[in-house]
Amino acid sequence: MRIPGKVAIVTAGAGRIGQAISRRLAAEGAAVTVNDLNAERAEAVAEEIRQAGGRALAWPADVSKSDEVRHMVAGTIEAFGGLDILVNNAGGSAGLLKKLTLFEHSDEEVCDWVVNLNLKGTMVCSRAVLAPMIERGGGKIVNMGSIAGTVGIIERVDYSAAKGGIIAFTAALAMEVGHHNINVNCISPGAIVPPPAENEDDNYLGRYGRPDDVANLALFLASDESDYITGQNIIIDGGRALGPKTQALHKLPPLKRKGDAQ
Ligand SMILES: NC(=O)c1ccc[n+]([C@@H]2O[C@H](COP(=O)([O-])OP(=O)(O)OC[C@H]3O[C@@H](n4cnc5c(N)ncnc54)[C@H](O)[C@@H]3O)[C@@H](O)[C@H]2O)c1
Repeated sequence: MRIPGKVAIVTAGAGRIGQAISRRLAAEGAAVTVNDLNAERAEAVAEEIRQAGGRALAWPADVSKSDEVRHMVAGTIEAFGGLDILVNNAGGSAGLLKKLTLFEHSDEEVCDWVVNLNLKGTMVCSRAVLAPMIERGGGKIVNMGSIAGTVGIIERVDYSAAKGGIIAFTAALAMEVGHHNINVNCISPGAIVPPPAENEDDNYLGRYGRPDDVANLALFLASDESDYITGQNIIIDGGRALGPKTQALHKLPPLKRKGDAQ
């Protein structure tokens, strides 16, 4: 066991990546509060962990609402006796609302929703766990960014901005809380697709990432093995953000330069 006796909250723990993280942390010895807006699916993940012999509690709460989050943190401490790990996994683009669009056509309400879910939710949950972690003598905060936060993705300009904000938040908060023995790091995945997934020819490893790939990294960042790492953004994307594969460049039409004949 790599995190025996630890207590963790995984936000959006019923989602594709969140489930994998919740199960992985529990299998390695942590008691896990599986947070999700979807109460039924959170309970199903918690029950699966309990059936496998682990400790888990489902907690439906909206990560962007301070009162609901404070209540969840207090409930976790009451149930499991403390709090060591927060995985700020909740997030998503306007794609979740089926409202992806170019920024010039974007709607203010949708942008607010995206920023609240990703950036504000991460800040609200992090703020709520600091006092209990300080009291406990330390902790691990693992944020969920995206390659969108460093290289950007079209039709997800608001999401890219929010994820970029999370990466900066990670660095700045790490500076403030390192002396409390709290590590703050960020995971930035590329495309993560649960199996069975098609091959992916847009990265250098030739396959999509799997929720378990991300869960392995989250476990490492939540464990003592990463004690000397803080403020970092770790990209997990099969090399996609390194840039297009050379052969992919040949698929593009030739670049037109100013003054070229039309
Ligand atoms: N899947 C990918 O390819 C990918 C790539 C890069 C980054 N990410 C990031 O990884 C994280 C997880 O992504 P996923 O694809 O597994 O998500 P998902 O779409 O599978 O699940 C999202 C979950 O979030 C829950 N949720 C929505 N709003 C919430 C709120 N306000 N409070 C609490 N829970 C809420 C939903 O009920 C759902 O269970 C996100 O932060 C996402 O931005 C995902």
